[in-house]
Amino acid sequence: MIFKETAENMIDYKTLQRKKTEEIEELLVSYLPKEEGYQKIIMEAMAYSLTAGGKRLRPMLMQETYRLFGGMGKVVEPFMAALEMIHTYSLVHDDLPAMDDDELRRGRKTTHVVYGEDMAILAGDALLNYAFETASSAFEAYPKESLKIGKAIGILGKKAGIYGMLGGQVVDVKETGHAVEKEVLDFIYALKTGALLESAMMIGAVLAGAEEEELRVIERAGGKIGLAFQVQDDILDVTSTAEVLGKPIHSDEKNEKTTYVTLLGIQEAEKVVEKESTEALELIRSLSGVNPYLEWLIGELIHRKK
Ligand code: IPE
Ligand code: IPE
Ligand code: MG
Ligand code: MG
Ligand code: MG
Repeated sequence: MIFKETAENMIDYKTLQRKKTEEIEELLVSYLPKEEGYQKIIMEAMAYSLTAGGKRLRPMLMQETYRLFGGMGKVVEPFMAALEMIHTYSLVHDDLPAMDDDELRRGRKTTHVVYGEDMAILAGDALLNYAFETASSAFEAYPKESLKIGKAIGILGKKAGIYGMLGGQVVDVKETGHAVEKEVLDFIYALKTGALLESAMMIGAVLAGAEEEELRVIERAGGKIGLAFQVQDDILDVTSTAEVLGKPIHSDEKNEKTTYVTLLGIQEAEKVVEKESTEALELIRSLSGVNPYLEWLIGELIHRKK
Protein backbone atom coordinates (compact mmCIF):
# COMPACT_ATOMS: atom_id res chain seq x y z
CA MET A 1 0.00 0.00 0.00
CA ILE A 2 1.70 3.12 -1.18
CA PHE A 3 -0.76 5.73 -0.16
CA LYS A 4 -2.19 5.37 3.35
CA GLU A 5 -5.51 7.08 3.69
CA THR A 6 -8.67 6.50 5.62
CA ALA A 7 -11.69 5.18 3.72
CA GLU A 8 -13.25 8.62 4.06
CA ASN A 9 -10.38 10.39 2.37
CA MET A 10 -10.40 7.83 -0.41
CA ILE A 11 -14.01 8.71 -1.14
CA ASP A 12 -13.18 12.40 -1.13
CA TYR A 13 -10.44 11.94 -3.70
CA LYS A 14 -12.69 9.79 -5.87
CA THR A 15 -15.33 12.52 -5.84
CA LEU A 16 -12.68 15.10 -6.56
CA GLN A 17 -11.43 13.00 -9.47
CA ARG A 18 -14.93 12.85 -10.97
CA LYS A 19 -15.32 16.60 -10.60
CA LYS A 20 -11.94 17.32 -12.16
CA THR A 21 -12.70 14.91 -15.01
CA GLU A 22 -15.98 16.71 -15.72
CA GLU A 23 -14.18 20.06 -15.76
CA ILE A 24 -11.68 18.68 -18.26
CA GLU A 25 -14.54 17.37 -20.43
CA GLU A 26 -16.02 20.88 -20.52
CA LEU A 27 -12.66 22.39 -21.31
CA LEU A 28 -12.17 19.99 -24.22
CA VAL A 29 -15.56 20.82 -25.70
CA SER A 30 -14.78 24.53 -25.44
CA TYR A 31 -11.63 24.07 -27.53
CA LEU A 32 -13.27 22.01 -30.30
CA PRO A 33 -13.69 23.71 -33.69
CA LYS A 34 -17.16 24.73 -34.85
CA GLU A 35 -18.86 22.14 -37.02
CA GLU A 36 -19.32 24.15 -40.22
CA GLY A 37 -18.20 24.55 -43.80
CA TYR A 38 -17.81 22.00 -46.62
CA GLN A 39 -15.34 20.12 -44.39
CA LYS A 40 -17.86 19.88 -41.52
CA ILE A 41 -17.63 16.09 -41.42
CA ILE A 42 -14.08 16.27 -40.12
CA MET A 43 -15.07 18.49 -37.20
CA GLU A 44 -17.80 15.97 -36.40
CA ALA A 45 -15.35 13.07 -36.52
CA MET A 46 -12.92 14.99 -34.28
CA ALA A 47 -15.66 15.62 -31.74
CA TYR A 48 -16.87 12.03 -31.98
CA SER A 49 -13.57 10.60 -30.76
CA LEU A 50 -12.59 13.43 -28.42
CA THR A 51 -15.88 13.59 -26.52
CA ALA A 52 -16.33 9.82 -26.24
CA GLY A 53 -14.99 9.84 -22.70
CA GLY A 54 -11.78 8.31 -21.51
CA LYS A 55 -9.90 8.79 -18.32
CA ARG A 56 -8.46 12.20 -19.26
CA LEU A 57 -5.32 11.19 -17.44
CA ARG A 58 -2.90 13.29 -19.49
CA PRO A 59 -4.62 16.67 -19.06
CA MET A 60 -5.18 15.83 -15.40
CA LEU A 61 -1.52 15.01 -14.82
CA MET A 62 -0.58 18.22 -16.61
CA GLN A 63 -2.84 20.37 -14.48
CA GLU A 64 -1.81 18.70 -11.24
CA THR A 65 1.90 19.02 -12.05
CA TYR A 66 1.29 22.68 -12.88
CA ARG A 67 -0.22 23.02 -9.39
CA LEU A 68 2.61 21.04 -7.82
CA PHE A 69 4.96 23.78 -9.01
CA GLY A 70 2.66 26.54 -7.77
CA GLY A 71 0.95 27.33 -11.08
CA MET A 72 -2.32 29.17 -10.54
CA GLY A 73 -3.25 30.59 -13.95
CA LYS A 74 -5.07 29.33 -17.00
CA VAL A 75 -2.21 29.19 -19.49
CA VAL A 76 -2.10 25.43 -18.94
CA GLU A 77 -5.63 24.97 -20.32
CA PRO A 78 -4.95 25.15 -24.07
CA PHE A 79 -2.11 22.68 -23.51
CA MET A 80 -4.37 20.29 -21.61
CA ALA A 81 -6.74 20.30 -24.58
CA ALA A 82 -3.91 20.03 -27.10
CA LEU A 83 -2.38 16.98 -25.43
CA GLU A 84 -5.72 15.17 -25.19
CA MET A 85 -6.21 15.88 -28.92
CA ILE A 86 -2.84 14.32 -29.70
CA HIS A 87 -3.55 11.33 -27.47
CA THR A 88 -6.98 10.88 -29.10
CA TYR A 89 -5.49 11.06 -32.59
CA SER A 90 -3.02 8.34 -31.58
CA LEU A 91 -5.95 6.13 -30.54
CA VAL A 92 -7.94 6.80 -33.73
CA HIS A 93 -4.94 5.73 -35.81
CA ASP A 94 -3.95 2.88 -33.46
CA ASP A 95 -7.40 1.31 -34.01
CA LEU A 96 -7.26 1.47 -37.83
CA PRO A 97 -7.40 -1.85 -39.74
CA ALA A 98 -3.80 -1.33 -40.84
CA MET A 99 -2.72 -1.11 -37.19
CA ASP A 100 -4.49 -2.88 -34.27
CA ASP A 101 -7.77 -3.23 -36.18
CA ASP A 102 -10.09 -2.67 -33.24
CA GLU A 103 -13.74 -1.69 -33.47
CA LEU A 104 -14.49 -0.39 -29.99
CA ARG A 105 -12.93 2.60 -28.21
CA ARG A 106 -14.06 4.53 -25.17
CA GLY A 107 -17.26 2.52 -25.26
CA ARG A 108 -18.10 3.59 -28.80
CA LYS A 109 -17.55 2.17 -32.26
CA THR A 110 -14.15 3.31 -33.44
CA THR A 111 -13.95 6.35 -35.70
CA HIS A 112 -13.17 4.35 -38.84
CA VAL A 113 -16.20 2.11 -38.28
CA VAL A 114 -18.50 5.13 -38.14
CA TYR A 115 -16.83 7.55 -40.57
CA GLY A 116 -14.83 5.20 -42.81
CA GLU A 117 -11.09 4.66 -42.93
CA ASP A 118 -10.46 7.69 -45.09
CA MET A 119 -12.16 10.09 -42.67
CA ALA A 120 -10.61 8.36 -39.64
CA ILE A 121 -7.13 8.93 -41.06
CA LEU A 122 -8.01 12.55 -41.75
CA ALA A 123 -9.67 13.00 -38.34
CA GLY A 124 -6.46 11.79 -36.68
CA ASP A 125 -4.41 14.18 -38.80
CA ALA A 126 -6.87 16.95 -38.02
CA LEU A 127 -6.64 16.37 -34.26
CA LEU A 128 -2.86 16.41 -34.41
CA ASN A 129 -2.78 19.63 -36.39
CA TYR A 130 -5.51 21.28 -34.36
CA ALA A 131 -3.59 20.44 -31.20
CA PHE A 132 -0.82 22.76 -32.34
CA GLU A 133 -3.28 25.42 -33.42
CA THR A 134 -4.77 25.19 -29.93
CA ALA A 135 -1.46 25.27 -28.09
CA SER A 136 -0.25 28.20 -30.22
CA SER A 137 -3.37 30.17 -29.34
CA ALA A 138 -1.77 30.58 -25.91
CA PHE A 139 0.71 33.11 -27.36
CA GLU A 140 -2.09 35.54 -28.06
CA ALA A 141 -4.08 34.80 -24.92
CA TYR A 142 -1.08 34.95 -22.55
CA PRO A 143 1.48 37.25 -24.23
CA LYS A 144 3.52 37.71 -21.06
CA GLU A 145 4.24 34.00 -20.87
CA SER A 146 5.51 33.54 -24.41
CA LEU A 147 8.90 32.08 -23.42
CA LYS A 148 7.30 29.31 -21.38
CA ILE A 149 4.67 28.72 -24.05
CA GLY A 150 7.36 28.34 -26.71
CA LYS A 151 9.20 25.81 -24.59
CA ALA A 152 6.01 23.89 -23.86
CA ILE A 153 5.15 23.67 -27.58
CA GLY A 154 8.63 22.30 -28.23
CA ILE A 155 8.07 19.55 -25.64
CA LEU A 156 4.65 18.74 -27.09
CA GLY A 157 6.11 18.35 -30.58
CA LYS A 158 9.08 16.27 -29.58
CA LYS A 159 7.22 13.89 -27.25
CA ALA A 160 4.53 13.24 -29.84
CA GLY A 161 6.91 12.70 -32.74
CA ILE A 162 9.58 10.29 -34.00
CA TYR A 163 11.51 10.57 -30.72
CA GLY A 164 8.30 10.05 -28.77
CA MET A 165 4.88 8.44 -29.19
CA LEU A 166 5.03 8.12 -32.97
CA GLY A 167 8.49 6.53 -32.84
CA GLY A 168 7.20 4.02 -30.30
CA GLN A 169 4.21 3.13 -32.48
CA VAL A 170 6.58 2.61 -35.42
CA VAL A 171 8.64 0.02 -33.54
CA ASP A 172 5.46 -1.53 -32.05
CA VAL A 173 4.10 -2.09 -35.57
CA LYS A 174 7.46 -3.22 -36.95
CA GLU A 175 7.89 -5.80 -34.18
CA THR A 176 4.37 -7.22 -34.43
CA GLY A 177 4.01 -10.95 -35.13
CA HIS A 178 7.26 -12.16 -33.64
CA ALA A 179 9.12 -12.39 -30.34
CA VAL A 180 10.54 -9.11 -29.04
CA GLU A 181 13.40 -8.76 -26.59
CA LYS A 182 12.72 -7.00 -23.31
CA GLU A 183 15.11 -4.18 -24.21
CA VAL A 184 13.18 -3.43 -27.39
CA LEU A 185 9.85 -3.74 -25.60
CA ASP A 186 11.05 -1.21 -23.02
CA PHE A 187 12.01 1.12 -25.86
CA ILE A 188 8.54 0.75 -27.37
CA TYR A 189 6.79 1.43 -24.06
CA ALA A 190 8.99 4.37 -23.13
CA LEU A 191 8.07 6.01 -26.42
CA LYS A 192 4.57 4.93 -27.38
CA THR A 193 3.10 5.51 -23.92
CA GLY A 194 5.80 7.05 -21.73
CA ALA A 195 6.50 10.04 -23.94
CA LEU A 196 3.02 11.59 -23.81
CA LEU A 197 2.81 11.10 -20.05
CA GLU A 198 6.24 12.71 -19.71
CA SER A 199 5.06 15.61 -21.85
CA ALA A 200 1.94 16.03 -19.71
CA MET A 201 3.96 16.49 -16.56
CA MET A 202 6.82 18.42 -18.16
CA ILE A 203 4.50 20.95 -19.79
CA GLY A 204 2.70 21.48 -16.48
CA ALA A 205 6.07 22.04 -14.83
CA VAL A 206 7.43 24.37 -17.52
CA LEU A 207 4.32 26.56 -17.57
CA ALA A 208 4.51 26.91 -13.79
CA GLY A 209 8.14 28.01 -14.06
CA ALA A 210 10.00 24.89 -12.88
CA GLU A 211 13.80 24.88 -13.02
CA GLU A 212 15.69 22.71 -15.51
CA GLU A 213 16.73 20.26 -12.78
CA GLU A 214 13.16 19.86 -11.54
CA LEU A 215 12.07 19.28 -15.12
CA ARG A 216 14.46 16.34 -15.43
CA VAL A 217 13.02 14.81 -12.24
CA ILE A 218 9.49 15.25 -13.58
CA GLU A 219 10.47 13.70 -16.91
CA ARG A 220 11.81 10.62 -15.12
CA ALA A 221 8.68 10.38 -12.98
CA GLY A 222 6.50 10.66 -16.09
CA GLY A 223 8.49 7.89 -17.77
CA LYS A 224 7.95 5.58 -14.83
CA ILE A 225 4.24 6.34 -14.71
CA GLY A 226 4.16 5.67 -18.45
CA LEU A 227 5.78 2.25 -18.16
CA ALA A 228 3.51 1.30 -15.25
CA PHE A 229 0.51 2.54 -17.21
CA GLN A 230 1.31 0.52 -20.33
CA VAL A 231 2.09 -2.66 -18.37
CA GLN A 232 -1.26 -2.30 -16.57
CA ASP A 233 -2.87 -1.82 -20.00
CA ASP A 234 -1.29 -5.13 -21.07
CA ILE A 235 -2.65 -6.82 -17.92
CA LEU A 236 -6.16 -5.44 -18.44
CA ASP A 237 -6.10 -6.66 -22.05
CA VAL A 238 -6.12 -10.22 -20.68
CA THR A 239 -7.95 -9.82 -17.34
CA SER A 240 -10.71 -7.27 -17.94
CA THR A 241 -13.83 -7.10 -20.07
CA ALA A 242 -14.76 -4.95 -23.06
CA GLU A 243 -17.68 -3.51 -21.05
CA VAL A 244 -15.36 -2.22 -18.33
CA LEU A 245 -12.51 -1.11 -20.61
CA GLY A 246 -14.66 0.35 -23.37
CA LYS A 247 -12.31 -1.32 -25.87
CA PRO A 248 -11.87 -4.94 -26.96
CA ILE A 249 -9.91 -7.37 -24.80
CA HIS A 250 -7.37 -9.82 -26.23
CA SER A 251 -6.37 -7.23 -28.83
CA ASP A 252 -2.70 -7.97 -28.13
CA GLU A 253 -3.10 -11.72 -28.62
CA LYS A 254 -5.08 -11.17 -31.83
CA ASN A 255 -2.26 -9.02 -33.17
CA GLU A 256 0.50 -11.34 -31.89
CA LYS A 257 2.04 -8.61 -29.78
CA THR A 258 4.79 -9.29 -27.33
CA THR A 259 3.74 -7.60 -24.08
CA TYR A 260 4.89 -7.57 -20.46
CA VAL A 261 2.27 -10.25 -19.82
CA THR A 262 3.52 -12.60 -22.55
CA LEU A 263 7.12 -11.94 -21.49
CA LEU A 264 6.86 -12.09 -17.68
CA GLY A 265 3.39 -13.35 -16.80
CA ILE A 266 0.69 -11.42 -14.96
CA GLN A 267 2.18 -11.63 -11.47
CA GLU A 268 5.59 -10.29 -12.45
CA ALA A 269 3.94 -7.65 -14.63
CA GLU A 270 1.92 -6.49 -11.61
CA LYS A 271 5.14 -6.14 -9.64
CA VAL A 272 6.57 -3.90 -12.35
CA VAL A 273 3.49 -1.66 -12.18
CA GLU A 274 3.87 -1.31 -8.42
CA LYS A 275 7.63 -0.76 -8.51
CA GLU A 276 7.61 1.86 -11.27
CA SER A 277 4.71 3.75 -9.68
CA THR A 278 6.38 3.71 -6.26
CA GLU A 279 9.57 5.07 -7.76
CA ALA A 280 7.63 7.79 -9.58
CA LEU A 281 6.04 8.80 -6.28
CA GLU A 282 9.43 8.93 -4.61
CA LEU A 283 10.72 11.23 -7.34
CA ILE A 284 7.74 13.53 -6.96
CA ARG A 285 8.11 13.59 -3.19
CA SER A 286 11.75 14.59 -3.58
CA LEU A 287 10.61 17.94 -5.01
CA SER A 288 9.89 20.96 -2.85
CA GLY A 289 6.24 21.38 -3.84
CA VAL A 290 3.42 19.17 -2.57
CA ASN A 291 0.24 17.99 -4.27
CA PRO A 292 -1.53 15.24 -2.29
CA TYR A 293 -4.16 14.70 -4.99
CA LEU A 294 -1.43 14.07 -7.57
CA GLU A 295 0.17 11.52 -5.26
CA TRP A 296 -3.19 9.83 -4.71
CA LEU A 297 -3.84 9.74 -8.45
CA ILE A 298 -0.53 8.03 -9.19
CA GLY A 299 -1.18 5.49 -6.42
CA GLU A 300 -4.66 4.85 -7.86
CA LEU A 301 -3.25 3.95 -11.26
CA ILE A 302 -1.51 0.87 -9.84
CA HIS A 303 -4.77 -0.98 -9.32
CA ARG A 304 -6.81 0.73 -11.97
CA LYS A 305 -9.52 -1.38 -13.54
CA LYS A 306 -9.77 0.53 -16.83
C1 IPE B 1 -4.80 4.08 -24.07
O1 IPE B 1 -4.68 5.17 -23.24
C2 IPE B 1 -3.54 3.87 -24.82
C3 IPE B 1 -2.41 3.54 -23.96
C4 IPE B 1 -1.36 4.30 -23.90
C5 IPE B 1 -2.44 2.34 -23.17
P1 IPE B 1 -5.74 5.45 -22.08
O2 IPE B 1 -5.94 4.18 -21.30
O3 IPE B 1 -5.31 6.64 -21.31
O4 IPE B 1 -7.06 5.73 -22.90
P2 IPE B 1 -8.28 6.70 -22.55
O5 IPE B 1 -7.81 8.09 -22.84
O6 IPE B 1 -8.65 6.50 -21.11
O7 IPE B 1 -9.36 6.29 -23.50
C1 IPE C 1 -1.09 2.09 -27.96
O1 IPE C 1 -0.88 0.95 -27.20
C2 IPE C 1 -0.48 3.28 -27.41
C3 IPE C 1 -0.71 4.44 -28.31
C4 IPE C 1 0.20 5.30 -28.53
C5 IPE C 1 -2.01 4.62 -28.99
P1 IPE C 1 -2.07 -0.10 -27.30
O2 IPE C 1 -2.32 -0.48 -28.72
O3 IPE C 1 -1.83 -1.20 -26.32
O4 IPE C 1 -3.30 0.80 -26.78
P2 IPE C 1 -4.78 0.27 -26.68
O5 IPE C 1 -4.77 -0.97 -25.82
O6 IPE C 1 -5.25 0.00 -28.08
O7 IPE C 1 -5.51 1.40 -26.00
MG1 MG D 1 -1.29 -0.48 -30.53
MG1 MG E 1 -4.30 -0.77 -29.66
MG1 MG F 1 -3.34 -2.14 -25.15
